[in-house]
Amino acid sequence: QVTSPYQLLVPENVKKLLRPRAKFSHKGTFGHALLAGGSYGKMGAITMSSQAALRAGVGLLTVQVPQVGYNILQTAVPEAMVLTDEQADYLTQFPEDLSRYQCIGIGPGLGQAEASGLALENLFRQKLPPLVLDADALNLVASNRQLRQHLPPGSILTPHPKEFERLTGPATSDDHRLQLLQSFCAEHDCYVVLKGAHTCIGTPTGDFYFNTTGNPGMATGGTGDVLTGILTGLRAQGYSALEACQLGVYLHGLAGDLAAEALGEASLVASDVYRYLGAALKKLS
Ligand code: APR
Ligand code: MG
Repeated sequence: QVTSPYQLLVPENVKKLLRPRAKFSHKGTFGHALLAGGSYGKMGAITMSSQAALRAGVGLLTVQVPQVGYNILQTAVPEAMVLTDEQADYLTQFPEDLSRYQCIGIGPGLGQAEASGLALENLFRQKLPPLVLDADALNLVASNRQLRQHLPPGSILTPHPKEFERLTGPATSDDHRLQLLQSFCAEHDCYVVLKGAHTCIGTPTGDFYFNTTGNPGMATGGTGDVLTGILTGLRAQGYSALEACQLGVYLHGLAGDLAAEALGEASLVASDVYRYLGAALKKLS
């Protein structure tokens, strides 16, 4: 029986987290994020995460992709700087100097190549900025004990229920799923954004936050990659892991709601969610 208190993500609570932009800000004020992912045929995911991180207000964005993604990213996201792997089709390395980034988001379109798993093992042994892990980065963690044991504390993980099940084993009920969420977050000292119709945020201290925005129009490929970009962009601006989760999840759903209002739920595509992110930020502030 889950007893711990839970909170609802509602405008009056989430609005307080927003930090106004000071007049004399410059792009360094809003942090430098790194996103890593993409593989042959799955470059769209990391491209949409990149668009979303920029619209979440990060100052600078660098994207690490396999060579196949170089022209795609430079064309689709001119605002982002691009670093390429020596491998053509999937990631086998991360940039040397990670100290310049205030947050690293990993996973969209990553694929599960053995070499990508080894690169993650290498990465987890280093001193790192805060991490956001999604999609195939989570699947690699789920299938690799080394990675699970060395999950950097304070990381934000964003599994959908299937990806979560791979990490914790099957849940027999919603209550059991919350218990699994609570114990996983405590055991790994991490934040888990368990995505779905009512996304739930689990914290290392055993608290839960249930989202109140979003709609079924968002049940379409790529909307999770957009959330990864938003969380990475917010965390890189200096929001704490918990603030970034609350703001990011709420704004992601609100953007989806504004897009559905304008375009109709049935026609939503993932890129509509990052396109309406600015409107969501404006509506909340
Ligand atoms: N109501 C509100 N929000 C929803 C709903 C719904 N009915 N359905 C999905 N969402 C939101 C989730 O909260 C989450 O933020 O859409 C997003 C979906 O995220 P993912 O499941 O990660 O989907 P994504 O990865 O973007 O889609 C590609 O690849 O990752 C796999 O199998 C996965 O279907 C997914 C596909
Ligand atoms: Mg996903």
